[in-house]
Amino acid sequence: MRWPWWGAVLLVVGCGPTPAVEYGEELFHDPKLSESQYNTFSCATCHASTATPSPGKVYAGLSLYNVASRPHWWGGYETRLLDAVNFCYTSFMRGLTPLAPEDPKSRALYEYLVSISPDVQAPAQPFTLVKDITDVPRGSAEWGADVYEATCQGCHGETHTGKGRPSELAPLLPEVVQEYGELFPGVAPGLVFIEKVRHGRFFGVGGNMPPYSREALSDQDLGALLAYLGL
Ligand code: HEC
Ligand code: HEC
Repeated sequence: MRWPWWGAVLLVVGCGPTPAVEYGEELFHDPKLSESQYNTFSCATCHASTATPSPGKVYAGLSLYNVASRPHWWGGYETRLLDAVNFCYTSFMRGLTPLAPEDPKSRALYEYLVSISPDVQAPAQPFTLVKDITDVPRGSAEWGADVYEATCQGCHGETHTGKGRPSELAPLLPEVVQEYGELFPGVAPGLVFIEKVRHGRFFGVGGNMPPYSREALSDQDLGALLAYLGL
């Protein structure tokens, strides 16, 4: 179900984007949508909004093209679009209270999401969370360098130095694994690393990094990434 009573919000057909759509698009790109001073993520950090993926960039979340036309979200876990959005808002953007349906910001965001949903109906998108963590075969380090740049660098910055990262809350890669020996004695650091990438902040791992589903990152790409990082 959509946010039902919003069907009545004016959409001036043929006159370009409405002020609500434009405001919604701004909010989509604005980390300040969240009231938390520690948040540096916007929706656009983790979601594309176009039908075709942009080359050289891999997002943790699915593209939100046609998102308002899907029957349900988060692999069937969420049946209201606002709940699906609030899941991200509270889990990743450190939002303390979920966005309320009547809040002008959520209304504008909704108008924007409808504006990038041209089809009346669109299929639900698969989202496969890897539950049991197992090791993956290492791949080509050269390929892994590209995976790192497209997938992780936006938040973690360059390897070893973190150059360009928006926040120091994202640790240096791969140096962070040096702490793993003490924290998880007897567990191969590579496995702890895979756990973080596959589960993000969930399954008791903590933090606010998003999880990477199989659709977002294949085991093959993950194996190449590990080879590049020397893990
Ligand atoms: C830190 C990363 C991150 C941020 C920030 C984020 N999301 Fe997400 N979002 C995800 C991940 C990961 C998923 C689960 C995979 C998927 O379904 O896209 C998801 C899922 C969703 C879904 C369900 C899609 C579907 O069809 O199942 C919606 C809708 C959504 N996000 C909207 C938003 C909006 C709107 C914002 C901004 C308010 C936002 N997200 C911020 C990572 C993020
Ligand atoms: C949307 C931003 C974002 C993206 C993209 C991202 N990370 Fe993170 N990552 C974070 C933040 C913030 C933290 C610290 C908070 C936490 O642990 O969740 C973190 C923490 C980590 C940690 C350390 C966990 C610990 O404390 O032991 C590892 C390992 C990691 N990320 C690996 C990756 C890899 C590999 C990728 C690419 C596949 C990636 N991250 C993509 C934001 C991101």
